[in-house]
Amino acid sequence: MIRLGIIGAGAVAHFHAASAGRISNVELAAVCDLQPEAAEKVARPWGARTYGDYLEMFRGASLDAVIINTPHALHLDMVLAAARHGLHVLVEKPMATSVADCDRMISACQESGVKMVIGQIQHFLPEKLAVEELLASGELGHVLMIRDYRTTDYRPGTRPEWFFSKGMAGGGALMNIGGHCLDRSIWFGGAPVESVSCSTLNRFGVPVETDGSISLTLRNGVNVMISVVSDAAQRTDEVLIICEHGTILCGPLKGTLVRRNGLTSTVWEPRPEDIQEGFFLQLQDFIKVLDGGTPKVSVGHARHIVEVVLAAYESAESGMPVVLEPTALHSLDAARTLSEVP
Ligand SMILES: NC(=O)c1ccc[n+]([C@@H]2O[C@H](COP(=O)([O-])OP(=O)(O)OC[C@H]3O[C@@H](n4cnc5c(N)ncnc54)[C@H](O)[C@@H]3O)[C@@H](O)[C@H]2O)c1
Repeated sequence: MIRLGIIGAGAVAHFHAASAGRISNVELAAVCDLQPEAAEKVARPWGARTYGDYLEMFRGASLDAVIINTPHALHLDMVLAAARHGLHVLVEKPMATSVADCDRMISACQESGVKMVIGQIQHFLPEKLAVEELLASGELGHVLMIRDYRTTDYRPGTRPEWFFSKGMAGGGALMNIGGHCLDRSIWFGGAPVESVSCSTLNRFGVPVETDGSISLTLRNGVNVMISVVSDAAQRTDEVLIICEHGTILCGPLKGTLVRRNGLTSTVWEPRPEDIQEGFFLQLQDFIKVLDGGTPKVSVGHARHIVEVVLAAYESAESGMPVVLEPTALHSLDAARTLSEVP
């Protein structure tokens, strides 16, 4: 039996907890949050113990693994502590707020011999899995261009206060929501990012960016355009993939549609349970990794997303494109993702 803990009983903690409840060799043993009632609410249905201090939970709850589901800048210290206690970690996105922090997390887990997987949920959402299958079939040929548009809301009071702190969140709408767009666009595009141009807006008087547009060139020449808009007239979360022999439109609201030879067909109808299913498949993948399997999403990919968001901020600041150096981790990822895309 794998004894699992959760730190941070916030927005998606109940998805993680319910996923644990569906895996026969996993027991949600403990939940930690600074707010006792939040911890209690997530823990109670599963009979898990609650803690207010995660180090106390690490010492007292006989855990094997922990999900780190807290404000972004806290991921580093929590992963370092988990590694010291010999606990495997599933860390919510974004991995951290700097590339140096990502590297410290990778080294600490390697040195302690614990597994670390980052919760890049896009790779497990059923409508995105339908895209993966379609691209792998080769029917549509190569991906040529991607347009990704997602709305959010960064008006004051719309989310917990730490999301508006650059120090705690690492940035605003692009670090938090843009990271999902980068995640799926780099995955579907089939190669890491070569260069980034970005512009951002600071509306509503909040200290982080509320909107942004990012243009990427991937190392295989695919162009990606990402827009993240706060408080838009209509809620949208859509990626449009333009391929040699057709186009794919994918999002949680419309499902997955393919257009080929002037005809549109639906390959995935959205269902209310799709988000919960994504969290379940993600946890199942993590448990597979603890059994010696390979994660669906490499830590190098998660680190690359942080690197690209920070490069986007640099570009927005300077008004110039930023060219990224390939690193060993990226080359490894590129080899894997490219071989999967025909
Ligand atoms: N995968 C997704 O779709 C998705 C969706 C939402 C949030 N997230 C990610 O989940 C993480 C948490 O975001 P959220 O929206 O749940 O935030 P949140 O503010 O709703 O929840 C964070 C929780 O962490 C607790 N916390 C803070 N510091 C703590 C500490 N030192 N010890 C114990 N608990 C502590 C807070 O009390 C709070 O309850 C972030 O990384 C965020 O980007 C992912």
